[in-house]
Amino acid sequence: MLDTRTRSQEVAERHREFIFPAVTPYYGDDPLVVERAKDQYVWDVEGKRYLDFFGGVLTVSVGHCNDEVTAAIHAQLDKAQHTSTLLVNEVMVQVAEKVAALTPGRLQKCFFTSSGSEANETALMAARMHTGHRDVITLRHAYSGRTATAMSLTGHGTWRLGGVFDGTIKHVRNPYAYRAPAGLDAERLLDLCVQDLEETLATVTDGRIAAFMAEPIQGVGGFIVAPRDYFARILPIVREAGGLLIIDEVQTGWGRTGRYWCGIEHWGVEPDIMTFAKGMANGSPIGCTIATPEVADSLKGLTFATFGGNPVTMAAALATIEYIERHDLLRHVEEQGARFLARLREMQGRHAFVGDVRGMGLMAGLELVVPGTDKTPDPARATALIAAARDLGLLIGKGGLYGNVVRIAPHLNVSAGDLDTGCDLLEEALSAVA
Ligand SMILES: Cc1ncc(COP(=O)(O)O)c(C=O)c1O
Repeated sequence: MLDTRTRSQEVAERHREFIFPAVTPYYGDDPLVVERAKDQYVWDVEGKRYLDFFGGVLTVSVGHCNDEVTAAIHAQLDKAQHTSTLLVNEVMVQVAEKVAALTPGRLQKCFFTSSGSEANETALMAARMHTGHRDVITLRHAYSGRTATAMSLTGHGTWRLGGVFDGTIKHVRNPYAYRAPAGLDAERLLDLCVQDLEETLATVTDGRIAAFMAEPIQGVGGFIVAPRDYFARILPIVREAGGLLIIDEVQTGWGRTGRYWCGIEHWGVEPDIMTFAKGMANGSPIGCTIATPEVADSLKGLTFATFGGNPVTMAAALATIEYIERHDLLRHVEEQGARFLARLREMQGRHAFVGDVRGMGLMAGLELVVPGTDKTPDPARATALIAAARDLGLLIGKGGLYGNVVRIAPHLNVSAGDLDTGCDLLEEALSAVA
């Protein structure tokens, strides 16, 4: 019988048959099957071209198959592809030196793995071994990954599977300005967050903690930006409880927020441990935990990651970071990011269902709500919006606890022209779902 399915439909059916259903692509029954990708574009197997403003969840940071990163990967592939950490490879040391030089404060020693989840596991293990305390405090609406510990850290019920969680991890109120309790201004919301932290310490810990852990901007949570004074307010309380500050830069690292290498630098506090992944190697699997020398030195004993510091991945990371440096992308992201947020705010003025526009640098979220209600989340419209954008040739993402935040994150080297084109397409998509 004649097979009338498109190539996409045929691959999608095989995907459904042979991949766990928990691996859920965007766009429902009509997933986008990628043929190839280059710089700002992705092509599907039918040959349609898309402007990519999500970069595989903020991971393709300097463009798909970036020439300079690809050349570095090719060169390393021809030299040595795997060493394990039982043998020393110099490119891993070079990346560690670079990370130490570009991160704030006294962060110095790196532990490399293959994902953000593992980077966060390593951070927690180091904090516990250094302080001798077990309890950890993190934020509601956080996303930390999919290992057992990372799911325990995650503050979204929907992303916590398996039913067995680490009871030493406690979640406190996150500073979510748009959904602050009625009548609370920014200042009073901060007071409430501080009070919640203090009460949590007093009620469900023995007052001593290993760490407080947070993302500067909650990514999966829907690009929730912590208020200016947030970290300065909570840090003394964390220190008083003997805890370390762990900052998860998996989404915000490597220039994503503009001006600085790390998101947390906008808040002016110095973490004891920081974690990176995603955009650090432009799409090669990487996890990186960096700590102060004394914290790193406390992690004693046998622990091993077969692929941690893999030379090919390290070559990709080094080339990505050097590309960001050479092309002055921290400044570029700050400038383009300001233009981008301004355009999004104009769009908000034209569409009542865009309840909030927030973000920093090239990391922007639109929180969609039902007009005329008290900010009732509208996840159906968010789904419709990313589908409408896809139809128009623009890829964007979504997130948020209620699934109603559209997340947009163009490549760090997006041109001014592409940014305008993406905004025009988004405007069209917003009108299509109005
Ligand atoms: C902030 C944050 N931390 C950790 C992770 C986990 O990273 P991975 O999926 O590489 O394990 C993610 C993934 O989305 C993340 O956004």
